[in-house]
Amino acid sequence: MESTVFLDGEYLPSDQARISVEDRGFLFGDAVYEVSPAYRGTFFRLDRHLDRMRRGLGALQIDWDVAELPGIHEGLLARNGLDAAEVSIVYLQVTRGVAPRTHHFPPGPVRPTVFGYAKEFLRPARERWEEGWAAITVPDQRWARADLKTTCLLPNVLAQEAARRSDVADAVLVRDGFALEGAHNNLFAVFGDTVVTHPASNQILHGITREFVLELARGAGMPVEERPIPLEELSGADEIFFTGTTTEIRPTVELDGLPVGEGRVGPVARALFDAFLAGVEQARRGQG
Ligand SMILES: Cc1ncc(COP(=O)(O)O)c(C=O)c1O
Repeated sequence: MESTVFLDGEYLPSDQARISVEDRGFLFGDAVYEVSPAYRGTFFRLDRHLDRMRRGLGALQIDWDVAELPGIHEGLLARNGLDAAEVSIVYLQVTRGVAPRTHHFPPGPVRPTVFGYAKEFLRPARERWEEGWAAITVPDQRWARADLKTTCLLPNVLAQEAARRSDVADAVLVRDGFALEGAHNNLFAVFGDTVVTHPASNQILHGITREFVLELARGAGMPVEERPIPLEELSGADEIFFTGTTTEIRPTVELDGLPVGEGRVGPVARALFDAFLAGVEQARRGQG
């Protein structure tokens, strides 16, 4: 179905949106992006998504003010009839702009290209969720700034394709023997009653959902550790789950063909998913 997208100050049908072949986002992946969720038309923690984008733009030295982005987000939801959707997402990308191809930045001032679209996110039925999903481990082949949400996603693309070919939902990225995160989501493991996830270093994306889930775990009195997880330790975890805007909380019951814990969705993932659903609903009602 044709949708309305945003490109450089205009809302237009997606099949009419055009970017230049000299756009540095197209040529180099010289761009940052964000994916922000809305629950029945109300954005969840949009300020944090804007902060992360501001930080990424700063690191890439792209001169663009994120102040107008909330308006674009609202505009995309409204124009695509998504105000009433249970969950929808807005994708927003800012590239350095259009200039003759050189590796270094263009010498003169260049206007960044801003592109966005919105679509519905379909949460799996609870019965499906309760069955859990499978994951595989793959080598992490990304650069040293995985904390920046750039569009240079080829290692993530290859990892997720490996997962798809293995007929599993997720890929755990492993570097130097440590399980860091997923190809498009953060990784959590549970040992006993302790919830563990990799620290927010430059080796992982600082997920907004990760931060929310850590708050929920601490709020529920669960012991929480932010530390690297050796792969051999992960294989013995009682529970594994992934978090992300388009993942929410997804439990993994099988890793590399072997059962995780008892091979069933565990109580910690379930309690956190219930708290997650209650938390986003509370925020939607303006109490969060
Ligand atoms: C590599 C990676 N890790 C983690 C996440 C989860 O981040 P968030 O919870 O902000 O969606 C994403 C989201 O796209 C991602 O691409």
